[in-house]
Amino acid sequence: MPRAAILGTGFDVPDRVVSNDDLTAVMDTSDAWIRERTGIEERRWVREGTTGAQMAHRACLAALEEADIPASDVDAIILATLSPDHAFPGTGVFLQRELGLTGIPALDVRAQCTGFVYGLSVADAWIRMGQYRTILLVGVEIQSTGLDVSTAGRDMAVLFGDGAGAVVVGATDDDGRGVLVTRLHSDGRHAETLWCDAASSARHPRVSSEDLASGRHYPSMDGREVFKHAATRMPEAVEEALAASGLEIGDVDLLIPHQANLRISEMVRRRLQLPEERVYNNIQRYGNTTAATIPIALAEAVREGRLQRGDLLCLVAFGSGFTWGSALIRW
Ligand code: COA
Repeated sequence: MPRAAILGTGFDVPDRVVSNDDLTAVMDTSDAWIRERTGIEERRWVREGTTGAQMAHRACLAALEEADIPASDVDAIILATLSPDHAFPGTGVFLQRELGLTGIPALDVRAQCTGFVYGLSVADAWIRMGQYRTILLVGVEIQSTGLDVSTAGRDMAVLFGDGAGAVVVGATDDDGRGVLVTRLHSDGRHAETLWCDAASSARHPRVSSEDLASGRHYPSMDGREVFKHAATRMPEAVEEALAASGLEIGDVDLLIPHQANLRISEMVRRRLQLPEERVYNNIQRYGNTTAATIPIALAEAVREGRLQRGDLLCLVAFGSGFTWGSALIRW
């Protein structure tokens, strides 16, 4: 049975840098508040005209180049996003069109911040069962166009950024590398704890002027509740993946947690008793880019030489749904 290995990584972020000080011009917040509570210093927001499919395309081209694989070898696309370019069809087909890969399947994954880990699990299964050999797995988000950039929306608006990260997942017969295990979870009892109510097919009409007036089209959350669950579920998911593969926390060379909040990452690191140099964070520069955070961080970690062949990489995510999950990969 072939194994699924990550053969190349790539990312793309908008060139428009939005600092914490830039936000103080439009809402009642401060650089000190944002840094202390979240660790975020700046984020990237798209300029008008940039689409998620365009960023995903650039991230995929970088990943294919690193893998040294032509786009024509790709058999399937899996694209994770909670902010599709359009209500339908999914962003995956727009990416497919940009890549010129007519005919191959394009699957959009709706698992929010855990979307990349869910997508990796699907790619791993498809490769192991022999259905596809070369898969582009992408996380892409444009959060900025959906945020309430005023004092009323400051709890959410300061957290999120835009960007795309991609990997080429390919079949390998080398049992010294590849995805060892993935573990996925969700708990819909908390669906409204971090969500966006409108526009929605459950409403008649999907969005009304009253919805717009009351801000139901903006995302909302109970930040403390999300924080509490994230800080508990992420270490649990790491331990679950380690137990399933007979490994221990000391075997992990690099942990890339979903970049929701530097304080959450720090709590996860302490609970797992991992030294600082074994955890990769870049939320300081990008904020929370939802499904894109893990592949952007992975691509940066690779470019910084933080992963060597044979290293044990652990990915862990938590997000809206709630959804959460983990993956262990022998690099
Ligand atoms: N700037 C300044 N003040 C802000 C603010 C901002 N951007 N956002 C909220 N505040 C205010 C609140 O209104 C509140 O004021 P009050 O005490 O007068 O009511 C005060 O700051 C404290 O808010 P609180 O929500 O208790 O802060 P916190 O320490 O819980 O930090 C978060 C808030 C959002 C940073 C934190 O809860 C968090 O990160 N949660 C997880 C969110 C997350 O990761 N979501 C995505 C998951 S994938």
